[in-house]
Amino acid sequence: MKRFVVRGLFALVAVIGLGVAPPLRAVAAIAVIPQPAYMRVGNGSYALPHEVTIAASNAAERDVAGQLSDFFRKRGLAATIVPKNAAHATVRLSVIAGDKALGTEGYHLRVARDGIGITANTGAGIFYGFQTLRQLFPAPPATANALPYIVITDRPAYRWRGVMLDVSRHFFPVSFVEQYIDIASTYKLNTFHWHLTDDQGWRIQIKTYPRLTTVGSCGDYDHKLGSGPCRYYTQRQIREVVAYAKKRYVTVIPEIEMPGHSRAATTAYPELACKPIRSDVYCPSETTFAFLQNVLAEVMRLFPSTDIHTGGDEVPKRPWNASPFARSVMKQHHLRNAHELQGWFDRRIERYLNAHGRTMIGWDEILAGGVSKHAVVMSWRGTSGGIVAATRSNDVVMTPDGPLYFDAYQGDRAWEPRAINNHTTLRDVYDYDPAVDALTADQSRHIIGAQANLWTEFIPTQQRAEYRLLPRLLALAEDVWTPAADKDWKSFVTRASSQYARFEAAGITFWIPGPNGLEDTIVDGDSVHVAFTSAVPGAAMYYTTDGSYPTVRSARYAGAFSLAVQRGEERRVRVITVLRSGRVSTPADATFSRRVAPLAKP
Ligand code: ACM
Repeated sequence: MKRFVVRGLFALVAVIGLGVAPPLRAVAAIAVIPQPAYMRVGNGSYALPHEVTIAASNAAERDVAGQLSDFFRKRGLAATIVPKNAAHATVRLSVIAGDKALGTEGYHLRVARDGIGITANTGAGIFYGFQTLRQLFPAPPATANALPYIVITDRPAYRWRGVMLDVSRHFFPVSFVEQYIDIASTYKLNTFHWHLTDDQGWRIQIKTYPRLTTVGSCGDYDHKLGSGPCRYYTQRQIREVVAYAKKRYVTVIPEIEMPGHSRAATTAYPELACKPIRSDVYCPSETTFAFLQNVLAEVMRLFPSTDIHTGGDEVPKRPWNASPFARSVMKQHHLRNAHELQGWFDRRIERYLNAHGRTMIGWDEILAGGVSKHAVVMSWRGTSGGIVAATRSNDVVMTPDGPLYFDAYQGDRAWEPRAINNHTTLRDVYDYDPAVDALTADQSRHIIGAQANLWTEFIPTQQRAEYRLLPRLLALAEDVWTPAADKDWKSFVTRASSQYARFEAAGITFWIPGPNGLEDTIVDGDSVHVAFTSAVPGAAMYYTTDGSYPTVRSARYAGAFSLAVQRGEERRVRVITVLRSGRVSTPADATFSRRVAPLAKP
């Protein structure tokens, strides 16, 4: 059996301080994402017995123990859950109360001579200890069931660690939604924002209003409403997803867009739009409020989340300005313009949610109308809305459309499948920090976390969704979990490699990053040594040096090679990566150009 060997010296170096990430070499075999807040690697390793026992007593412990048993069985081990007072157990799960250092989501994980222990104040903490534990096992194709001796004490930097999926522009089946939640929770994200309604399709069954699904769900971004298949989630399916997420300590936040992005609803029920312009905006009428309150009543019965997302973004004001009825509402309530009318609309919905014990969350446009201090603001037009919200004491989730919109290209758009017109690299996501320097400590406390959004105009399939989500989600996980001072790009890149091996083994269509070390280079002499390594372990690389598109018939990379670069010339090395599964990356490029000689002094 292959075992980890962790050298004593490295272990010693790693002891250096709480909150300081151990040096990379010390954890070469340990590749946890997100990087734990504190980790000390011991000297030796623990080989699991073939018959694993998991000690768990209360409901939360037993629930994670069940998931842990499934994990062990997949690794070829037998697993039994035993009571906590059992004399021997391979793994001990203990919810204890009152370890202040761990907070509500932190955990303590220890692997030693006598086995594995996870303690936490909550079931969430135990679950996160389990997520770390599974990453301590070697990545496929290695199958060893041995773990390094290690002590980890860990807790998140932020409490809102989210990812959104737009199921309106394209619909995704429950099986994929659950996989999405699975991936998110593996990397300790705790919030799934489900964008359930938009112009292109209404995806949630509402029993009071059947036309929302018999009409409003029959289209998507590629099929005008009425011309596409009708795709939506039944209430039973929604309950299934919420329960699935709960087991993984993920809160599901439903989004019901209003007053804009509502064409699916106004097509199903035309009386919800103002005359004379039939539009994608609800009319601010009593008919509309009765409708929305009835919809929200059903939504609240399905979703236990405190926060209910009501959209609020990009509301065109022309339909209201053109409507005698909407103008009469403005006059009656002394609203100077359509922007103030949206504020009035939002506040009315907020009062309804508050009366039912819920909190409104919306896109940063909801600030303009002056929602209450209790509303949560999702800052998407950059971070400015979030900064304003925090200064007004509203809680903020940062989801800036630059680094955290995962519908953007990751690679060179010349080769990538069509994406929205932006480019956001893995590095861009990694370098994002939700903290804002300009805020005071009190204001900063209102930044409760960050979230990535996956809009799906150009994501027609689940494979494409995986391709846009991953590996960027790994970088997001570290942005919201790991203390900012401990983030380290080089270490992240190394640790991400193990995750790629796991994705590949699970058949997940992640975007394949270009080789590590392939970088634009200024060359001093007549030639340069070109060396790089595959981002994905065990993958093959093929390259060209003449600017052509590489194929598996191009030169196979077999170690550093020499590249001649003439004076005034720029050479391009273009590489494709081919996974063991046969999946091929788009090309990654680097240029090698000759340094221009300095002008001779006159
Ligand atoms: C948004 O991207 N319109 C929230």
